[in-house]
Amino acid sequence: MKEVGIGILGAGNVGRGLIEILKRDGESIAERTGLRLRVAAVFDRSYKKKEVALRGIPSGDHAEVVLDHPDVSIVVELLGGLMPSEQFIRSALSKGRSVVTANKALLASPVGPELCKLAFENNVNLGFEAAVAGAIPIIRSLRLHHLAGQVRSIHGILNGTCNFIITRMEDDGLDYAEALKLAQDKGFAEADPAFDVGGQDAAQKLRILAGLAFDAYFPESSIRVEGIESIRPVDLKIARRMGWVIRLLGVARRTTDSFLLRVHPAMIHANHILASVKEERNAIFLDSSSTGPALLVGQGAGSHPTATAVLSDIIELAGAEQVGPGLFQKNVTKISPEFEYRYYVRIQTQDQPGVLAEIARVFASHKISIASFHQEEGPEPVQLVIVTHAAPELAMADAVAQINRLPVVMLPSVMIRIENL
Ligand SMILES: NC(=O)c1ccc[n+]([C@@H]2O[C@H](COP(=O)([O-])OP(=O)(O)OC[C@H]3O[C@@H](n4cnc5c(N)ncnc54)[C@H](OP(=O)(O)O)[C@@H]3O)[C@@H](O)[C@H]2O)c1
Repeated sequence: MKEVGIGILGAGNVGRGLIEILKRDGESIAERTGLRLRVAAVFDRSYKKKEVALRGIPSGDHAEVVLDHPDVSIVVELLGGLMPSEQFIRSALSKGRSVVTANKALLASPVGPELCKLAFENNVNLGFEAAVAGAIPIIRSLRLHHLAGQVRSIHGILNGTCNFIITRMEDDGLDYAEALKLAQDKGFAEADPAFDVGGQDAAQKLRILAGLAFDAYFPESSIRVEGIESIRPVDLKIARRMGWVIRLLGVARRTTDSFLLRVHPAMIHANHILASVKEERNAIFLDSSSTGPALLVGQGAGSHPTATAVLSDIIELAGAEQVGPGLFQKNVTKISPEFEYRYYVRIQTQDQPGVLAEIARVFASHKISIASFHQEEGPEPVQLVIVTHAAPELAMADAVAQINRLPVVMLPSVMIRIENL
């Protein structure tokens, strides 16, 4: 088993999330990857306040505790901000250590390309899967898409705060200030939300994605940015009437002889797959010459989703091996026989009194409770639609089979599970 020493700079939300996941899943990661990942040292200016999370891990408020630790082979930068993060990353890469960072501000700055070059020159790696769209593996996907073909365009919902605010105005009719306050109360928005609602956060992320997709560095001046501050519920209401929804989109497009980068609120057709992306979720709609359009959706932030992206880089950089005989080898010991669903049932009956009572009796005898009932007007067979509360699969199948045997039932019933996604 290969031992890998990890040094963490910054034990904040993401840093502590990473430590928690390694404690919880370290054994199974070792089993699956052949890597024993150990947090060898942590640097944080207020490490003493975080002693519960850091218990048993050598910690200190001098970066040397990580940067000079002999067992650290991968340095994970989770401080945020430009300085001193840049200085620490440069130091680690120059000493021949790979670095993983979630720092989008640093990567989008002119320092980003310099750090990539420094890693290359020192024959080490710089991983930044967590810098854009948290749990969504977009950096890895883009790298592969880019290697395998040509990325034509990226359309992204890249800021969870904005998407949450828009959804609350759209679905609940909250005004802008109420929706923003709710986002802050739920921890989706900073006390000073200007960077998010003004579109600058999405713009930083888009510049990183476009940089990967198009092999170029896009400076801040290369992108036009508009935020959501002036959007009001009335805009969303009118948009809906016209068959559209509004989303804050980051758009990067390859044109015949140049590139176009934008972040702005955009009307998109209500049937478009991006229109279904709601709440604080992020999504990236990628169009490439080899794959055609593809959509990735997920949590764009949060301690564990982001730490998981950090961890995926660590595992890749540490050189995970295939362990044991590979996939599909475990014997399954238990398969769950039953699952409870709500059901839609359409029963096709003769048009005569007492039919509904007979059907209700069958459901009751199987302890299945009816949530709603509806009868479609029309000629025989009459279409009775029943929606149930959650019921076990076997009981439901039995009840519908029994209903189908009733003399009043003219054709087999249609039963559809209701998935609570
Ligand atoms: N949180 C997310 O969901 C998320 C998602 C995607 C990417 N990211 C990125 O991940 C990085 C970390 O984010 P986070 O949410 O974990 O931030 P955070 O909670 O503020 O954590 C940063 C930690 O580093 C410490 N720190 C900051 N500057 C320092 C310095 N100069 N010297 C020593 N210690 C310092 C902080 O100490 P104090 O406690 O004393 O401030 C804190 O413990 C950022 O680059 C962020 O953009 C975060």
